[in-house]
Amino acid sequence: MADKCQIYLLGLIIFCSLLTGTSGVVNVFCSDGVNVTLPCSDAPPDCTLTHWMHYKDSKSNGVELFHEGIKQMDHKRVSLGSYCSLNIYKTTIEDHGLYTCRQLIDATDVQVYLHFLHVSLSSTQTEIKAGRSVTLSCQLYLYDGYDCESFLHKYRFQMIWVNESDVNLQSDSRYQISSSTKHCNSSLTTTLLNEDNNRELRCQIIKGTEVKTSDRYTVKYSADSETVSGLLLRVIIFIVEFAVLTAPTVILLLIICERRSEKKRNNSQHLNN
Ligand SMILES: *[C@@H]1O[C@H](CO)[C@@H](O)[C@H](O)[C@H]1NC(C)=O
Repeated sequence: MADKCQIYLLGLIIFCSLLTGTSGVVNVFCSDGVNVTLPCSDAPPDCTLTHWMHYKDSKSNGVELFHEGIKQMDHKRVSLGSYCSLNIYKTTIEDHGLYTCRQLIDATDVQVYLHFLHVSLSSTQTEIKAGRSVTLSCQLYLYDGYDCESFLHKYRFQMIWVNESDVNLQSDSRYQISSSTKHCNSSLTTTLLNEDNNRELRCQIIKGTEVKTSDRYTVKYSADSETVSGLLLRVIIFIVEFAVLTAPTVILLLIICERRSEKKRNNSQHLNN
């Protein structure tokens, strides 16, 4: 009887470790300035034994964020959430990498990979205005141990460009999109039209219809030339207005002065006579 119990127990342990083994790796995506929660799956509600580590890449030593439930050092943007999850506020590119959660009791690590998506304007661009062509670049930063191509393929993640109404721009002939899954990069080129001012172009990581994360670029036309001509126009209007308003007064003053000097001349003529 005792033997049977032991076998059942052993089976249960193997079954459980298989379960945690398959659910052991979690992929979370973020972009600049968002809040994310990294789960520590199967954690007890009490987090006094929770350890959270962050590894920026496979070569660097980990940084301990929480030790037995207590925050280490000055990690201002992290906190413990429910079930010992890790909340990160206002994520930056510095936050991507591998996070591990460990409850001392069973000492199995939960591995959470945080991937960072970033859209940037191609650096050769100097002026953003109608008629100009712009190129945006969307980069997904993965943990360095990950091969991007097989990662995207394995989890069926897709990198796409959409507009502010979530319409996929892939088949829109206005936009030339070229993706390199090998480098986890996608670029979008378009020639700007007048109506593109304030237009949002978003790069997203999706799985099916679910948006995992999104970063955006908002087209803002440089107002420089507009302000200069606007300022010039205002100066001209001011001068004209000033002239129109002051002209009658000036004319009146001129008339008065003229009359006075005329009177003076007359007076002096009288005196001379
Ligand atoms: C992130 O969390 C902070 C603090 O709870 C909150 O003030 C802020 O609005 C959140 N930001 C986003 C983008 O949800």
